[in-house]
Amino acid sequence: MDFSKLIKEMTLSDKLAQMSQLLGDYYVSDDYTKLMGLSYGFDVSEELAWNAGSILGITGAAKLKKVQEEYLKRSRHKIPLMFMHDVIHGFRTIFPSPLGLACSWDFNVVEEAASIAAKEASVSGLHVTFSPMADLVRDPRWGRVIESTGEDPYLNSLYAKAFVKGYQGENIKDEFKLAACVKHFAGYGASEAGRDYNTTDISNYSLRQFHLPAYYAAIEQGCKMVMTGFNSLNGIPCTGNKDLLKGILRDEWGFDGIVISDCTSVYELMMHGYAEDAKESCEKAINAAVDIEMLSTTYFENALKSIEEGKIKIEQIDEAVLRILKLKEELGLFENPYKDIDEQKEKEILLCKEHREAARKIAAKSIVLLKNKDKILPLSKMQKNIALIGPYAQSKELLDIWKCEGREEEVVSIYEGLKQKLDITVSSGCGINIGTAEEMDRAVNSAKESDIIILALGEHSDMSAEAGSRGYITLPKIQRELAEKIFELGKPVIVVLINGRPLELGEIAQKAHAIIEAWFPGTEGGNAIADILVGDEYPLGRLTMSFPVTIGQVPVYYNAFPTGRPKRKDSNPERFVSRYIDIPNAPLYPFGYGLTYTEFEYNNVSLSSKTLIKDSLINIKVNIKNIGERAGIETIQLYIQDMAGSIARPILELKGFKKVQLKPGEETEVQFEITEDMLKFNTYDNGFAAENGRFTAYIGKNAAELIKAEFELKAAN
Ligand code: GLC
Repeated sequence: MDFSKLIKEMTLSDKLAQMSQLLGDYYVSDDYTKLMGLSYGFDVSEELAWNAGSILGITGAAKLKKVQEEYLKRSRHKIPLMFMHDVIHGFRTIFPSPLGLACSWDFNVVEEAASIAAKEASVSGLHVTFSPMADLVRDPRWGRVIESTGEDPYLNSLYAKAFVKGYQGENIKDEFKLAACVKHFAGYGASEAGRDYNTTDISNYSLRQFHLPAYYAAIEQGCKMVMTGFNSLNGIPCTGNKDLLKGILRDEWGFDGIVISDCTSVYELMMHGYAEDAKESCEKAINAAVDIEMLSTTYFENALKSIEEGKIKIEQIDEAVLRILKLKEELGLFENPYKDIDEQKEKEILLCKEHREAARKIAAKSIVLLKNKDKILPLSKMQKNIALIGPYAQSKELLDIWKCEGREEEVVSIYEGLKQKLDITVSSGCGINIGTAEEMDRAVNSAKESDIIILALGEHSDMSAEAGSRGYITLPKIQRELAEKIFELGKPVIVVLINGRPLELGEIAQKAHAIIEAWFPGTEGGNAIADILVGDEYPLGRLTMSFPVTIGQVPVYYNAFPTGRPKRKDSNPERFVSRYIDIPNAPLYPFGYGLTYTEFEYNNVSLSSKTLIKDSLINIKVNIKNIGERAGIETIQLYIQDMAGSIARPILELKGFKKVQLKPGEETEVQFEITEDMLKFNTYDNGFAAENGRFTAYIGKNAAELIKAEFELKAAN
């Protein structure tokens, strides 16, 4: 469509309204005069409300149909309203949180979950989702690690693509598809000290080496929108950062989609000390080409004066409005403002049997087996005298706070899942953070009567995700007391964790016989956990974020730089090397770690050549054998280290992985190609290239258990 005529007919007020996103509550409440922003009261005029370009935060076919009808009746130019929402890992059928999904090391799993979420959300009237979150994370004190896919740029990039593909499909105009919005651009995951909304100070090298790739991958996949981060980046808040939003995103990467602020983050440019007042906030955001202001109203209230003063130009406004109109056209809203809204389909599709089944399978693939002493798992279904204990034994709160339309009452608890397979007793023992002596005694007594205890522990969902930063990352004290009493009985204890971050597990890690990391597993969480515990599903999950021994190690991540005095193996505790005198350097569980119900042996790692000539490739292969008594799926990981570069290079970089399913005694050969492309990086002179020299390839089951093979990259003679 040619929008030039429409844009000409629009007043400045119409245009600024299109660039404003308001809370949907406003349109479904009976009081149209007062709209409370998340942290600031913003008076919203009817002029703005009935000409706003988009709204967020409400869903439902009937509700959104009514809002659209009312809006089109009142709006001057009949430009359809766009409905956006946080569909982060499911709409009504809730899948595991992204950090859990990422542990599947399966991009199809993420694409399927996103596709189902888009189908449910679209019939309920939504057009855009604020997902994927592509922030790279290293600090488990930051509550939003649960919304990320972890500490590795390679995996984060491929997951970002998978989310976008699942939401958008081939064409967002198609039925059951949503436009995706990658966030929080950029580097929000580096919030200092893990405290949410805090400053980020990231060198250009680290920004490009670690943080930017996943956002770029989402855009490469055709992601329609980008959301700015709350964080300031090297002193300039993302939402007003021209170098970032115009220099990198639009000029260097060629992104011509919509940039939307985060909630009131335009207004907050003042709090950052980057704008004198709301008017300067407006100017700095518009000059950084932020097209939509979410929730605050500085654009609508100040842009006219800013234009009159020459601080911004009307052409910038017109460009922003054009991008907004184009997205609405791509969604097909000018032809059909109601897109996929359908109350009947809503009844049939949301939480349908197929979606529940998919959620159960996907949750099982997101579970990581962290410990399994004496192969106590899987439990035999004939096993008697099992006590299920803990605050998560019967709790249905297996959804994180980004649960969208998920409902706890529709969640399968661990008890509900297990009692279908095993004869168990159940008692809570304590709450998440508080408990009584009687409650605990009851649980301990039931444990005394049992042969095996399953201890379901964890964090409450409000202890992670947005504004959920924690200074201590242990389990709450009352739960550690309960666990201690249970361990004292000297019986086998299987711990199931429901949590929103890597935890400092302390004695739990030492004393538990087995540990299952289930994250917030979603609507079918209890069934998935039960399937794993009894072996109806085998654990295949691998961590994408390191578990620290203690908070004192944080940040601890696998792809760190070597330092001038690297600590060699923990053999002789040399003093003058990069180490602590009181804790180990190595995390408790490293990136890529996860056990299966069997054991795999890696042998005969070999290279087809020790020299990789530029523009060619070499192969690396390994023999994998299942030496256990059960079948299993092994995720074989390929890492590479560039031994020297024009700038320091990480000690390891994940470059690929392959999965094999082997029966007991079966073995196979697995081969990877090593190409020059794999070795390219952001060189010191701002190039992107592979540099000749020595490299080490590693193959193994996680970032700490690897077999190496050295090779050299050379130019052709
Ligand atoms: C929040 C979050 C962002 C979310 C947005 C809309 O503050 O930072 O991730 O998409 O607001 O709810």
